[in-house]
Amino acid sequence: MSDIAIVPAPRELTVDEGRWITADPLGEAVRDVVENLEPNEYRIDVGLDGARLTAGSEDALRHAETTYAQLIEAAEPTDEFGKVAVPLARIADAPRFAWRGMMLDVARHFMPKDFVLKVIDVLALHRLNVLHFHLTDDQGWRVEIEAYPRLTEVGAWRAETMVGKMTRGQKEFEYDGQRHGGFYTKDDLREIVAYAADRGITVVPEIDLPGHMQAAIAAYPELGNHPDQQLTVRQYWGISEDVLNVNDATVEFVKTVLREVLDIFPSPYVHLGGDECPSVQWGESEAAQKRQAELGLDEPGQLQGWFTAQVAEVLAEQGRRLVGWDEMVDTDCPDDAVIMAWRSAERGEIAVKAGHETVMAPCESVYFDYYQGDPATEPLAIGNFIPLEKVYDFEVVPESLTDDEKRLIVGTQCQIWTEYMEGPEQVGYMLLPRLSAFAERAWGSEKVSYDEFLGRLRPHLARIERIGVNYRPLDS
Ligand code: ACM
Repeated sequence: MSDIAIVPAPRELTVDEGRWITADPLGEAVRDVVENLEPNEYRIDVGLDGARLTAGSEDALRHAETTYAQLIEAAEPTDEFGKVAVPLARIADAPRFAWRGMMLDVARHFMPKDFVLKVIDVLALHRLNVLHFHLTDDQGWRVEIEAYPRLTEVGAWRAETMVGKMTRGQKEFEYDGQRHGGFYTKDDLREIVAYAADRGITVVPEIDLPGHMQAAIAAYPELGNHPDQQLTVRQYWGISEDVLNVNDATVEFVKTVLREVLDIFPSPYVHLGGDECPSVQWGESEAAQKRQAELGLDEPGQLQGWFTAQVAEVLAEQGRRLVGWDEMVDTDCPDDAVIMAWRSAERGEIAVKAGHETVMAPCESVYFDYYQGDPATEPLAIGNFIPLEKVYDFEVVPESLTDDEKRLIVGTQCQIWTEYMEGPEQVGYMLLPRLSAFAERAWGSEKVSYDEFLGRLRPHLARIERIGVNYRPLDS
């Protein structure tokens, strides 16, 4: 018999003596949504006369199905033609966190729709439930907006891309001479949303603002602080000083964009970025300075909080929750904003202490654009080092928090930023199997030992192969 290898490990798994002999373990299992389980709970009972999957909701029943499919891989052939022997097992399971996410950056490098669907399959395989879709950035705008067609006609394409690794302060670059780009039509996005929903996954769109907007400013120069200058869609990495201006017309522009985005994505959560927004241009701009004075603000950087609050009205109108990167805590954001802590776990502690529900996404633990092996032999990456074992060891909730503060940590998320990932093959390589280790922490699987995890991971890799996504082979 092959061993039972469920990833992420369920909270409770008991294996009993004996086998259930059946020709069709999938078809013959009984499934029920029941009232005596919490909406996120499920149970699996394989006894001598059959298997029963029960769950507190349709979503939890989907998790039961995923776990059950992994459980019955341990069935062995019998002497009876066409029948297998399934180990008797009882599983009682529920996730630790409500938000179990992965962020995919399709702005730095566009990813084909079919690959996004496979990523959703990978998330479902790991009982994760959020795809955070980073749709816009300086280097590309990827979502069709009918009111502003130039966002994709112009903003979705860059003439070429820098080659090699960008270092801090670098001004001169070598380029590849190849046009790069692409975007999703509204139909594409609705298909992605529906495919994800069928698998219990919410697609949370991100429109990153007011920084990381150079592609939009290249399409509509009047959005920038130097409307007389024609910018290009950015062709190298790093942080752009070209951010949105704070004029009324720009607020209206963004609101119109967001209304179209909300129309595509039914997610109760909508991400408005907020990270890495230099305020140099606001300090130099007469119009921004006038606005700063009118609002009685002390510094140009405070305009970010004001701008975000203006455009977030569109979310409030429709009862959606604002999500933002942890810089939002520094810029006077709405009290009910969900904060995504990325600069460090400590930023998560600060967000929680400020009373925000928080998703832990700290770069030191769950940034999968970081190296996972020796840079001398690995594909070019942004830097740093997060091997598989470090992801396995990740502690989502900082110990120093009080119990009340800990309750504000609603979940965790891993990130795939694609500056150095040109397509699906590179994304798969950086994502997996680190995502499998991450899923254990997001689900709340017991940390038995890294070796025990590796024992389950080895056979699990075949499931990833069946989906057809690349992964980094385990070190021998
Ligand atoms: C980020 O990595 N700039 C959120």
